[in-house]
Amino acid sequence: MPSSFLSLGSINADFQFEVSADLSEGGTLPAKTFLQRAGGKGANRALFAQKLGIGATLIGRVGDDHFAGQALQPLRQTGLDLSGVSVTAESPTAIAMIAVPENGDKTILLASNANRDWDDSSLDLVRQAIKQAEAGAVLTIDFEISPEAVEIALQAATQRQMRIIADGSFGKDVKPEHLRRLHAIAPNVQEAGAIAGIEISSDTDSERVARMLAESGVEIVCVKLSDGGCLLATAGAVERINSPPVEVVDKTGAGDAFTAAVAIALLEGHSPRDAAIYGVAASTLAVSGKGSQEAYPNRSELDQMARRVADGVPAR
Ligand SMILES: Nc1ncnc2c1ncn2[C@@H]1O[C@H](COP(=O)(O)OP(=O)(O)OP(=O)(O)O)[C@@H](O)[C@H]1O
Ligand SMILES: [Mg+2]
Repeated sequence: MPSSFLSLGSINADFQFEVSADLSEGGTLPAKTFLQRAGGKGANRALFAQKLGIGATLIGRVGDDHFAGQALQPLRQTGLDLSGVSVTAESPTAIAMIAVPENGDKTILLASNANRDWDDSSLDLVRQAIKQAEAGAVLTIDFEISPEAVEIALQAATQRQMRIIADGSFGKDVKPEHLRRLHAIAPNVQEAGAIAGIEISSDTDSERVARMLAESGVEIVCVKLSDGGCLLATAGAVERINSPPVEVVDKTGAGDAFTAAVAIALLEGHSPRDAAIYGVAASTLAVSGKGSQEAYPNRSELDQMARRVADGVPAR
């Protein structure tokens, strides 16, 4: 069956360590726990959409190794369409080493490996997946993969007049010609600064960058704020949407939940403001649980949190 939610992006095998030691000390440090999980931005967004009952297709690249099993098995179990995922014998599956300290603020060491190693036939799969998508489908992308794959996807989706929603990861790789093709973008503050080429050191700077991105051709800009919530910038205005206070357990994958929720809400016909509210609701729930994919909410949890977020937004 054709999908209405496409996700082109990174697919990683995550190795997660809970730590209480200060990583900046160097040397050999103890980890409290160790987990092997599926991760990657493209994979996280696709899994979240599928979990919410939307037919999703993942487009990405893995190695011919057992790490690919780790990265793909939980996705396969959800019934997600993996026909856009190709395998290379030239590079291992991407690996993310994630250290999560007690405050949930993770540090990630990422080896992109297969995510950045695409050949002609895998690029053809990108075209095919976009061609086969349902009319009215959305394409979500991140920039943690080969720029060539992103470029081909942008061209193919633009041809089909498909709305494209981007995460802001690897902000330095986001070019002005990309921005013009995007319907929405959801970078965090650092990524927004890197895209605009501006050092951000205050809330005023964040607002200025959100406005700049909205003026550069993207219709909906959601800048994810580091302590929760976002700045929503559209052609006319910038507004702040706050997150309800929660206990932060683990921020891994929370930004991906945000981007996916914005895309899902837009796909389902919500306004830009409601889409941003859904983004904040999803990331708030994602930081409240351990891990990334396993912390993503179901539909009723998401709707309930979205109502709480909306209650905190002043009426216009
Ligand atoms: N205290 C908090 N309460 C609610 N949300 C939070 C809180 N702290 C951070 N967040 C949200 O968590 C998300 C973190 O995503 P961000 O994209 O910045 O992280 P990242 O390092 O790129 O990792 P990833 O994208 O893999 O999650 C953002 O949406 C941010 O607003
Ligand atoms: Mg992010």
